[in-house]
Amino acid sequence: MDDLITNRRSIRRFQDKAVEAEKLTQIFEAARWAPSWGNLQCCELVVVEDVEDKKKLASLLSAKNPATKCVENAPVVIAVCGTPGKSGYYNNKQVTRYQHWFLYDLGLVSQNICLKASEIGLGTVIVGSFDHAQAEKLLGVPDGCELVALIPLGYPDHAPSAPKRKAIADFVHFGQYNPS
Ligand SMILES: Cc1cc2nc3c(=O)[nH]c(=O)nc-3n(C[C@H](O)[C@H](O)[C@H](O)COP(=O)(O)O)c2cc1C
Repeated sequence: MDDLITNRRSIRRFQDKAVEAEKLTQIFEAARWAPSWGNLQCCELVVVEDVEDKKKLASLLSAKNPATKCVENAPVVIAVCGTPGKSGYYNNKQVTRYQHWFLYDLGLVSQNICLKASEIGLGTVIVGSFDHAQAEKLLGVPDGCELVALIPLGYPDHAPSAPKRKAIADFVHFGQYNPS
């Protein structure tokens, strides 16, 4: 498991090779089993394979976004959507200081997708910076549901080295936070 976690990389170049339906199913199965607030499972996934739709989605990222090209070129783009106002709410009332626990739930689904993809030889990158409203319109996401992230998916065409991470001692605090 450790290797799976440390070896997963954000992949932004994909081979021109389709992703098998069975592998997609394995990824959706991993998404299904993500934990969620009260097991409410507010996540909805839109699977984009149409060439023109992927091109239009890519046009909604800034040209400077390192993932712009791969949204167009990936064989599959998964749009991670969810319904706000359920996770973190009880009887329609917000029960913690945070309104947007649905984002947390979607993050866990996204992580499951990326780890399973990596385990079965596929690459992914989570993309959060794009014109969300236009992307929702393009993919027909209904009112009350929000498209939060895009995950291009395919066979990797590069093997990037790992970006640096903080040392454990730089973010793990035993007992008290006590910043030095
Ligand atoms: C919430 C979120 C949003 C992200 N948005 C983008 C993005 O818009 N474009 C991009 O190229 N990468 C994006 N990334 C990928 C990060 O840049 C990447 O995970 C980070 O640099 C660490 O690299 P690694 O995933 O290879 O370990 C995003 C990652 C997360 C978790």
